[in-house]
Amino acid sequence: MRGLLKSTLALSIIFAGLSGCVPVELARRPGSPPEVGIIPRPWRLDPAGGSFTLAAGTPVVLEEGSGAGAAAAGFRARMAAAFGLVLPLVRSARPASSPSVVFTTVDDPELGPEGYRLSVRPGGINLEAVTDRGFLHGVQTIYQLCPASVFGREGPRAGPPVIPCLEIVDRPRFAWRGLLLDVSRHFFSKEFILELLDELAMHKLNVFHWHLTDDQGWRIEIKRYPALTEKGAWRVDREDKHWNAREPEKPGERATYGGFYTRDEIREVVAYADRLGITVIPEIEMPGHCLSALASYPELSCGGGPFTVPPGGVWPIKDVYCAGSEAVFAFLENVLDEVLELFPSPVIHIGGDEVDKSTWKACSKCQARMKAEGLTTEEELQSYFIRRIEKFLKARGRTLLGWDEILEGGLAPKAMVMSWRGTRGGIEAARSGHDVVMTPTSHCYFDYYQGEPAQEPPAIGGFLPLEKVYAFEPVPVELSAEEARHVLGVQANLWTEYVPDPSHARYMLYPRLAAMAEVGWSLPERRNWDGFRARLAVQLRRYEAAGMTYARGRFASSARPAVIE
Ligand code: ACM
Ligand code: ZN
Repeated sequence: MRGLLKSTLALSIIFAGLSGCVPVELARRPGSPPEVGIIPRPWRLDPAGGSFTLAAGTPVVLEEGSGAGAAAAGFRARMAAAFGLVLPLVRSARPASSPSVVFTTVDDPELGPEGYRLSVRPGGINLEAVTDRGFLHGVQTIYQLCPASVFGREGPRAGPPVIPCLEIVDRPRFAWRGLLLDVSRHFFSKEFILELLDELAMHKLNVFHWHLTDDQGWRIEIKRYPALTEKGAWRVDREDKHWNAREPEKPGERATYGGFYTRDEIREVVAYADRLGITVIPEIEMPGHCLSALASYPELSCGGGPFTVPPGGVWPIKDVYCAGSEAVFAFLENVLDEVLELFPSPVIHIGGDEVDKSTWKACSKCQARMKAEGLTTEEELQSYFIRRIEKFLKARGRTLLGWDEILEGGLAPKAMVMSWRGTRGGIEAARSGHDVVMTPTSHCYFDYYQGEPAQEPPAIGGFLPLEKVYAFEPVPVELSAEEARHVLGVQANLWTEYVPDPSHARYMLYPRLAAMAEVGWSLPERRNWDGFRARLAVQLRRYEAAGMTYARGRFASSARPAVIE
């Protein structure tokens, strides 16, 4: 999300019912179990009578060889942190007699790789899953059955949790349920990233798309090219100015604003995410959105520079890697080698968006390349670029993923596409047998306004209220059932031109991410706006307990059904 919406700040939308009102506190009898308000909504949920109280000393039973290790460890840690409960771990081949919390690995095709079956009875909890990821999601559901204080980050606050009895069978609709965070336009600390991963897990999201490089900052340490972070991670501080009114760096000025992640920090993030069932997909932008790299190594451009890291908006994207230079491919392959070492993800995102091809048109090296390769348009030159990188990644066992511009000039043979300029690119890719992730600006761009602009902090433009996110259907009607299988899932994107810090990031994310989580997880027939709003009231209490900022707005409801599932 870059230049496209710069001129759309003037919105002519009629807003209704905006009042910044706080959702009504849900009435609860003291001592009664919390109302069930699970987000995303489970596949099947059957309430039963009674409740189970998790007391200190209740054993957590893990069968020998069970894949539930990370989930059980996380569960025990959370119960200790939130409620001060020490729950002993018991390794056993047989289900324990009650009361206990039993993790049972099952071979059940109905559950699939991420599903789980949860049974809460007065005598205890039984959680079944096929894989560790299934257990991790099941544990998140148990948290949501506890009082909201389970999500507290500041030490034990409440007594033992009373958990309502019920039976749940649950599994996700889509395999890819992601969030992109742009850490280039503004840098976000590793500590925030770790908290954000907890928050993704809370929503049963399983992909963290880490947008690590862009014009305004290079954020990943690369041993072989130290200038990328010595120079490319820093820009002059113009944070007091509007994004699009920031003067470039002047001669002699010090670039002090920015930051980057060391290799150790990246390893820590990837490992932490893995323990939560989240895959981290790195994005290294090419052939455009790379001014931070060109500021460090100007010889990689067509014209040779010099360049500085821009402190604000750049449009169009003309300073790009030279597609005629062998040194560029050597550089990118060396960078990617180090990226692959740090990120075990099967998919690597290489950007590919918004390149203004006029620089290539005027470059003798780029034109010589086109001639040598028999390419007639600059779009084909971009396709050549991406195909070369795809070959490199494929030889190392990884799949290339790019923004839908990589369709132009011919899609690389096995590439995956992220459809952002609407769903057209996704439809085209799916029809030609390529996997796609749907993230159209219309429903997935969380840098858009979510309420009346006059009452909101400045955003990039657009309008994406909660209700519209919730209404998103990721599978376009144009696709046949066979083609639709290539739609791997959905992703929300938080570009951060107008998002300078964690509190503001959360404000843009929540509660819209709750709506997106349900789009990605729950079957369409289980989705219902009024029901979601009622469950959201419970979810907002969880955000509050976790100290998470969120946007209050027109979604707030003063009416609710008598029973919240
Ligand atoms: C994008 O928003 N340029 C992918
Ligand atoms: Zn060139």
